[in-house]
Amino acid sequence: MSSTNSPSSLDEALPVLVIAAPVRFEQLDPLLGEGKVSPATLVGVSEPRLSWRYETLAPHASSAAMPHLGRQSAYEIEVCRANSSVETVRVDSGEQILVSWPFAPLNSRERVSVRVRGYFGTEKTPWSPSSVVEAGLLVQQDWDAQWISPSAGAAVDHAAPVLGTTFLVEEGLVEARLRISALGIVVATINGLAVSGDHFAPGWTSYEHRLRYQSYDVAALLTPGENELAALLGNGWYRGRVASFDLHRGAPYGDYLGLLAQLEITYADGRRVDVSTDTSWRAGESNILANDFYDGQFTDLRTSTFLPVAELDGNVRELPPHAALLVAPTAPPVRKTQCLPVRTLTPLSEGRTLIDFGQNLVGWVRLCVTGKRGDRVVVRHAEVLEDGELSLRPLRSAQATDTYILSGAAQEVLEPRLVFHGFRYIEVSGAMLNPADIAAVVISSDLTRTGWFETSDPAVNDLHNNVVWGMRGNFLDVPTDCPQRDERLGWTGDIQVFAPTASALFDVSGFLSSWLTTLGDDQLSDGTVPAVIPRVFRTETPYAGWGDAAVIVPWTLFERYGDLGILRRQYGSMQGWVEKVGAIAGEDLLWTQGEQLGDWLDPLAPPDAPAAAQADPGVVATAYFARSTQLLAWAAEALGYRDDALLYEERAAGIRAAFEQKYVTEDGIVFSDCQTVYAMALRWDLIADVPRRELAGRRLAALVARHQYTVATGFLGTPLILDALSDSGNIAAAYKMVVCRENPSWLYSVDMGATTVWERWDAMLPDGSVNPGVMTSFNHYAFGAIADWMHRKIAGLTPLAPGYRHVRIAPIPGGGITSSSFEHVSPYGGIGVRWTLRDGLFKLNVQLPVGVTAEVRLPNGDQHDVGQGEYEFLATDLTTAKATAATLTA
Ligand code: BGC
Repeated sequence: MSSTNSPSSLDEALPVLVIAAPVRFEQLDPLLGEGKVSPATLVGVSEPRLSWRYETLAPHASSAAMPHLGRQSAYEIEVCRANSSVETVRVDSGEQILVSWPFAPLNSRERVSVRVRGYFGTEKTPWSPSSVVEAGLLVQQDWDAQWISPSAGAAVDHAAPVLGTTFLVEEGLVEARLRISALGIVVATINGLAVSGDHFAPGWTSYEHRLRYQSYDVAALLTPGENELAALLGNGWYRGRVASFDLHRGAPYGDYLGLLAQLEITYADGRRVDVSTDTSWRAGESNILANDFYDGQFTDLRTSTFLPVAELDGNVRELPPHAALLVAPTAPPVRKTQCLPVRTLTPLSEGRTLIDFGQNLVGWVRLCVTGKRGDRVVVRHAEVLEDGELSLRPLRSAQATDTYILSGAAQEVLEPRLVFHGFRYIEVSGAMLNPADIAAVVISSDLTRTGWFETSDPAVNDLHNNVVWGMRGNFLDVPTDCPQRDERLGWTGDIQVFAPTASALFDVSGFLSSWLTTLGDDQLSDGTVPAVIPRVFRTETPYAGWGDAAVIVPWTLFERYGDLGILRRQYGSMQGWVEKVGAIAGEDLLWTQGEQLGDWLDPLAPPDAPAAAQADPGVVATAYFARSTQLLAWAAEALGYRDDALLYEERAAGIRAAFEQKYVTEDGIVFSDCQTVYAMALRWDLIADVPRRELAGRRLAALVARHQYTVATGFLGTPLILDALSDSGNIAAAYKMVVCRENPSWLYSVDMGATTVWERWDAMLPDGSVNPGVMTSFNHYAFGAIADWMHRKIAGLTPLAPGYRHVRIAPIPGGGITSSSFEHVSPYGGIGVRWTLRDGLFKLNVQLPVGVTAEVRLPNGDQHDVGQGEYEFLATDLTTAKATAATLTA
């Protein structure tokens, strides 16, 4: 081992402060028309938690070695309040993640600046740059705005309404904040300029319980004299056709749209003047004649979206106060994240044009067209083609069509405001197009990327890239199953299996924490977890693997972000689910009753019966019961709930024993004898008897070989199968599965041209036709859960203590892969693991930030314990590597 650490020099180590669950303010730059992020962070709590990491000071020398700091012995936090009072608190502690707010709580609207520095023994780092933290409206009494809705003409089949008001601004304005929420989705403008680049605000929560409000810094948009504030309301999730296949009607939440807005203007003399929604506002129709997430938008460009407020000819009515709690967001909003150019443009019959963007994505298309007044341009979307035309059947009832009536202006920009689509291809009719006039606009919750993985195998890289794209498209305010057909719902089972991968690739702490709050809100009083969150179905059944999201997702966030607060907040929900399953299972501790989705979409199940998996539903359900009970016990332990920890630890052991006794034979055969049941039994320690466990491991390897390393598992088995193989001494078999190219396999889809992960292994059949099953999405992240295994076993980085405070670095080369790298920004900072294997020489480079320790295991069996720094490890004798590889994962 060699270390490339430079000698200690604390002057070069800069702490970077992170406010928990940050939502950045957006400040509009009117010249660019795009959002510009200001350094302020809006928080919805009076005591925001603080985290920091240490980065090198040399901004232009990113490759510069980090000075060796050792362990932080204390930290000091300084707050500067508006009256210029400065307070400093020093705490002797090595903690640097989500530490408690050490000062008096913030008041609503209070703005402070905070900075931190670390102590390492007798030395200290410089202060971090200051972060501005601003509290939102912390109590409901801070709202004096009223909910309003157009008095007439705003039913679901009417044009999207616009509500607006005019108001005077005096000289001497120093600050202005717009707080805004909606029943529906809202686009707000001040003096004709959008207040932000956010889309689909206030997002999707359990609207009966909680509604988000956004806060925008709008000072730059206001001028002394008369000003206009207007808001366009879309149906969104609130009044859209969401899950209409189950509800048999649109509008799951309500029949009318609503607006709540409070513009708070502060003048130099300290006065605050609010402009709030009330019955003096005006209402009118926009030029958006129809809008629905599934069906698309119909826009008549012969009139404007926003008429001057003076021309809004309708009244508004006051709505009764809404029961939901108004809360500040804890996750970034949906924003445009990228634009993609046309890859190919092909003329079709009848004046239609087919456009391929080369990437399955989520968003919409922006077109620049010229045409006559009254001409109609129609844009249809699809993920795949069949016979050279859009394949629309996978969209089911979703029309996914944007229609525009042209105004006849010299050049018109066509772009929807209130809908999104999942697509790679579009068909345009009614316009002559040049590639330069067309762009695909990619949208997503604007999450910070935290993980980058690469290997020497281009197909494996393509697969990983597909996982990333699938996540970008399906992390759209809530984690969805798919983004294109008449579904787009927060299916609990899908995110349960994908959460570890998601948290390695992007910072999803605030995003999934927010979704878990909704899960808690929507959970039934008997503990049943709805199949989709936010809940929209009429009836709910407790499903193993789906309802377990209530336990597994919080645990994953604790593991990856070290956030005990999430466990504390979700504990009642976790316990509710485990107790519910306990009540169903009864005394024998086996969950064999009731309907199950089971190992959903097992490739060997008939295409029209996705729940008819090889794996016995009772085995799968009991395995999940054991797993969630165990995680609950660990959560209780972490929270210091000793009695509960003992109770659930014992119960988990009981369930495991019942499982082994009922489902595992002396010969290690697990009932229903298919890969998924072995994967669960091995991965979750459900076989205590060591000889039996070894036999089960061998049986799993035999089954995998019998299927010639193609995949034979569904939603629940697939995320576990590679770990079960590598944990049971079958790493070579795991690699054979990863690099297998036959149908069904991960690389089969890559070879078939997939650019996202498919819902079904064979969503596209080998002859290029689309699978005839009713569920054939080409953008479902569940099977992409394999990426977590790639990060942990190919690259070799596994968190061992919450928040990556202690990690294992144990890459296991295989599958013909000769190099791999994984860079992950953990809560403590960047962890880098890169290895190459050339001519029998294995070289591993590791980079660890302050606060993280690692046990490093090389393929030849060598072990090292290291802390912050940069290291290079060499292993020359790789003949032993193969032999030791199997034991490395223990
Ligand atoms: C969704 C899935 C989901 C499943 C469960 C499907 O329609 O797309 O991803 O988990 O139903 O029933």
